[in-house]
Amino acid sequence: MVAAARKNAASISELLDAEQARFLRAHPMSAAAWKLGKKHFLYGGPSHWMRRWAGGFPVYAAEASGAHIRDIDGHNYVDFALGDTGGMCGHAPETVTQAAIRQLRSGTTMMLPTEDSLWVGQELTRRFGMPYWTLTTSATDANRAAIRIARMVTGRDKVLVFSGCYHGGVEEAHVEIRDGRVGLRNMIHANGVDHAAVSKVVEFNDTAAMEQALEPGDVACVLAEPLMTNFGMIPVAEGFHTALREATRRTGTLLIIDETHTISSGPGGYTALHGLEPDIFVAGKAIAGGIPAGIFGTSQEVAKRLWKIVPHVNPRERQSAHLGFGGTLAGNALTIATMRAVLERVLTPASYERMIAQASRLADAARSIIEANALPWHVTQIGARAEIMFMPKPPKNGAEVIAARRGDLETLLHAFYMNEGILVTPFHTMFLMCPATTSADVDVHTDVFRRFVALLRDNGVA
Ligand SMILES: Cc1ncc(COP(=O)(O)O)c(C=O)c1O
Repeated sequence: MVAAARKNAASISELLDAEQARFLRAHPMSAAAWKLGKKHFLYGGPSHWMRRWAGGFPVYAAEASGAHIRDIDGHNYVDFALGDTGGMCGHAPETVTQAAIRQLRSGTTMMLPTEDSLWVGQELTRRFGMPYWTLTTSATDANRAAIRIARMVTGRDKVLVFSGCYHGGVEEAHVEIRDGRVGLRNMIHANGVDHAAVSKVVEFNDTAAMEQALEPGDVACVLAEPLMTNFGMIPVAEGFHTALREATRRTGTLLIIDETHTISSGPGGYTALHGLEPDIFVAGKAIAGGIPAGIFGTSQEVAKRLWKIVPHVNPRERQSAHLGFGGTLAGNALTIATMRAVLERVLTPASYERMIAQASRLADAARSIIEANALPWHVTQIGARAEIMFMPKPPKNGAEVIAARRGDLETLLHAFYMNEGILVTPFHTMFLMCPATTSADVDVHTDVFRRFVALLRDNGVA
């Protein structure tokens, strides 16, 4: 920033203090609710993730509809966080609401399949390509089950992940490269588990390191997003997926592709769009319209190997059919009904076209503001999802994110967004579109982002 452009001169930390004070003044009801929440919830809210909003505390939601949320202080927000993807169908989509009401009236959870599940199974195969599916209650659970199956069929215990990954509450993935070795992921606290005993971790896009880690033949599975979305966005390098598939096949390692976020790529996720060939495919979050759900699909080969260990149930020996993962509520009738509504009516090819167009609109506008101000930042887009990162070009791996990440600027931007009526996922600057997101919603962001840049410029910080 050029010194001549300064009107004031506040540091980022002073600007953040000012934004948080503004936030507190404007949200007395949410502030009071948060104080009460701390009395009964371990970390203030019903989920500990809810404490990480940049204003200093979360707003309490009064109502959400489409791409908008109103809080209990009466403020309206354009919601680009969309429940960190769980709300990607938009809030309260009518067809999902109607399906849920119908199913709630005829039974929620019975440990019995409903006929809707037949349609859902067929549609999952049509979209994502895997022949055999299982439902769980979350993407975390789907990943845990996928890892367990990989260990069962390979007889190996190790899991390979990429530094900077996040796959939910999956112990094996709570790692990153620290001083060249397996260390605990940023902000994950030690819990007595010897992560190095069960995990290997290499940098994303590093073919040689990935091949070397797989070579001893002790890895049950690689657990990977098709491109990384949880450490900012880290695009995949040309040829990396081909090398990964070849190396996993050569070493008898299963490949689990976790599309929980990259399902924003299109109706069949990144996998269908780019012809990936996972052994196990995982997704969750938005897949049942916000009703808790995860899915995993196995290839014919994995299913055959698993059936050898745990055959289809013999009615005389039904007690031996335990797979070691579960979820009493998994695949319940309510989830199936809403998943059907999502797949049939909400996350349609036409919806994706609109969502992707809005993400492009947002990304293009943000890029031109960045360029016009010669800022060393960039924007990445993957389908309906876009991300602003405070570094000049997309990182190649987790190490580059660690080296360049500007946590202070991120927090300031997020607090500014909240004060100006925008919600983005609290963990990084990601924008997700839902079918109801309009050009006017996107243009609100463009205006606010332009004013944020002006604020930095006026204060000589960037
Ligand atoms: C790629 C990926 N997989 C799995 C998960 C876990 O999802 P959930 O917390 O809904 O279980 C997440 C959550 O952010 C994710 O980003």
